[in-house]
Amino acid sequence: MPVMPPVVPQPGTERPKPYSGYFQRGTSVADPELTQIGPGTPMGEYMRRFWQPVCLSGQLTGVPLAIRVLSEDLVAYLDGAGTVGVLHRHCSHRGTSLEYGIVSERGLRCCYHGWLFDADGSILETPGESPSSPLKETFRHGSYPAHEYEGLIFVYMGPPEERPPFVTYDTAEVAGNALVPFSLAHPCNWLQIHENHMDPVHSVFLHVQIGGDQLPRAWGELPVLSFRETDDGAGMVYISNRRKDDETIWVRNQQAHLPNFVQIAGIFDLGRQERYFTRAGMEWWTVPNDDTHSTVFGWRHFNDEVDPRHEGCRDLIGVESCDHIAGRTHTNTYETQQREPGDWEVLVSQRPIAIHGLEHLGTTDAGVVMLRRLLRQAVRKENPSAWPDRRFTKTTRLSTSVQDTTLSVPMRPGVDDREVLGRYGTAVTDAVLDSAGQPTSERRARVEARVLLERQNSTRADRV
Ligand code: FES
Ligand SMILES: [Fe+2]
Repeated sequence: MPVMPPVVPQPGTERPKPYSGYFQRGTSVADPELTQIGPGTPMGEYMRRFWQPVCLSGQLTGVPLAIRVLSEDLVAYLDGAGTVGVLHRHCSHRGTSLEYGIVSERGLRCCYHGWLFDADGSILETPGESPSSPLKETFRHGSYPAHEYEGLIFVYMGPPEERPPFVTYDTAEVAGNALVPFSLAHPCNWLQIHENHMDPVHSVFLHVQIGGDQLPRAWGELPVLSFRETDDGAGMVYISNRRKDDETIWVRNQQAHLPNFVQIAGIFDLGRQERYFTRAGMEWWTVPNDDTHSTVFGWRHFNDEVDPRHEGCRDLIGVESCDHIAGRTHTNTYETQQREPGDWEVLVSQRPIAIHGLEHLGTTDAGVVMLRRLLRQAVRKENPSAWPDRRFTKTTRLSTSVQDTTLSVPMRPGVDDREVLGRYGTAVTDAVLDSAGQPTSERRARVEARVLLERQNSTRADRV
């Protein structure tokens, strides 16, 4: 069927008419440059340059696990020698799915004629063939390198010669921190899930005013909001400035790393006590299974700093389960979904692939617009800093800028409080971004010093 362009009056050419559904029945194509991730697509090739999580370690239990990643059907297994293998799912002999294979002491054996495949794609045995047959030396089965880290299995699916080092993040350095892995499947395109993190305004409405107190009340006020690209050229932060009450300001930075990794600051109320530069409550990759299905893989962080009242629950975290509102997925009844919609409902219902050509973006969508622009520049190779060969050269422990800072700044009569919020947000974020690469304790001290200076200057200005 031909794709009809939407019939939408252009601003300034025609006043929108009431009851105009008849004129808006055309469709528009989704944004293929950013949403399509199959082999050979611009975004698919970009994502393949990064290690991507594909399952939890705990899912490899002695039988193969069928997975679909970046529109490729694969199978993951843990063999008797402790090696994780990720192979093309269909046997190189005659195509039987290796999800029915037998995990061996070394490698995975196809159940149909017993061919045995090693993790690197070597054909170890073709038992029905003559022992002198050279067949198994003539080709390799499709396979990808795998790496296990903190309960997640990561796979690199790009060209072997471009394989980047495996990188980790400084958010794991908080004293006593534990990472608890989880995964959540979503039947929709990856981008609409990922860009939700650069749309903090939705928290005001969806998570508090409409969805029924899914987050603490402080989230229900419209923040003074801005967005900044990070200096590494590989992502952005939002800067959200709110009041917790008449006495307390709360500055939050959440960080999106290109292409599909995000770090979320504390997910529990940190109270009114002054705190500087407290780190991530959770972080995750939105990994496309294909263009219309995605699985979020990540960790919840457990430590006293981001969860001072120990509200988190490890027992609720795992495959298709999380103790955060993100874990509210299809398991709710339809009536609950309608009466108390959460992230899953608003993201999945944007259509299998959100159609950017039909959106009407406003000022509050500035973060979404920035993220799409950064992704577009990256896939077009207009920004070399966004590619692993330029990003992961100096260190494999990456410095990040996700954080919360809470500080005492009483409201003052006659003073524009939103201007005050913006000023403190800028001060905190300047200190956070300028100190990237420094040890966490030094960065925290720097944020505190910058905030105290801001407060001192404000007090002096009041006296003048
Ligand atoms: S199809 Fe797998 S060994 Fe024959
Ligand atoms: Fe949300």
